Amino acid sequence: MGVVWPRAAGGAERCFLSDPHVSCFSSRRSTLSCSSSYPLRTSQTIRPITSGLCHLYTTGVRTMPSSAAPHVKSRCPLYPGSKLKRFLVPDDKVDWSQSLPQYKAVDHTDPSVVKKPAWADPEIGSFSPQFNVVDGGVDRTSFEGNYKTEKGKPLNPRGRTGVTGRGLLGRWGPNHAADPIVTRWKVDAKGAKMNHPVSKRPILQFVSIKRKDCGEWAIPGGMVDPGEQVSLTLQREFSEEALNSLTLPPSERAKVHERITKLFKSSGLQVYKGYVDDPRNTDNAWMETVAVNFHDESGDSVSGLPLQAGDDAGQVKWVDVDSSVPFYASHSRFLELVAKERKAHW
Ligand code: BGC
Repeated sequence: MGVVWPRAAGGAERCFLSDPHVSCFSSRRSTLSCSSSYPLRTSQTIRPITSGLCHLYTTGVRTMPSSAAPHVKSRCPLYPGSKLKRFLVPDDKVDWSQSLPQYKAVDHTDPSVVKKPAWADPEIGSFSPQFNVVDGGVDRTSFEGNYKTEKGKPLNPRGRTGVTGRGLLGRWGPNHAADPIVTRWKVDAKGAKMNHPVSKRPILQFVSIKRKDCGEWAIPGGMVDPGEQVSLTLQREFSEEALNSLTLPPSERAKVHERITKLFKSSGLQVYKGYVDDPRNTDNAWMETVAVNFHDESGDSVSGLPLQAGDDAGQVKWVDVDSSVPFYASHSRFLELVAKERKAHW
């Protein structure tokens, strides 16, 4: 049975990691000081994988109440890919409801966005997008519910970031991504599951890419094309980034496609859906994602495919799911949710 998503997943356009609007370049390193993960969505639920319904992708993830911990990476002092310093917003002034009369966010839209590539909106004024709806194929709805607008511009539902404009992001408002978390059990030479010496729990491994832009290890996700089903984005991004499917000879490509399609159609556990604390976020543009776990329980499906980094990934490999390894944006949190749900080591 094919995957069923809670809603049409038209969304922000496709953007590869190497696209300028997702690059954070070397200056992104400065944002690493913000990489301590903030406590995302403690109220979040995961659909129980034992329910037998997990492959149906029913809505099972609650959104975090707006009173939850403020975003952190979205307030990184130096905006990625630039020398621009954000207006520093104290924790207790992040929420728009808190008065901050001296707030002077720095306006910034990266030159790569200004020059109107296909994946980016024009400047507001020259066009008037419809917010909180699917607007001409572009999904401008937010998983966080209806967001406000001010002077014709959308307001980040998680509050102030110290930067206005779109920065490196193409869309005003939500920019929709999808994150495929492909896992298997770590096994020894005899094929037996390996337990972690401390937690005594079996160790999961997932396919991880090293992002070329900032050098951080990440889930091989990417942006949802306008009108694209999220289920398709998940499979496409995984194939392109982790298997380099676009450069495979046709016969190989068909084999890879068949195996991947089987895995991505058979089962999937949606672990997260919502706002992402991404260093590219601004007051008027932000990242949202759907993260879905595809698990190769027997280790004879995708585990057997040779990993090859796609154009936008510097490296690709199976990485142990472990809390001590830092990952890009909110990816650690997604992995933690997978580990908990699969009763694996974290
Ligand atoms: C990445 C996703 C990530 C999202 C939000 C996208 O550019 O491809 O992996 O979750 O940004 O940070």
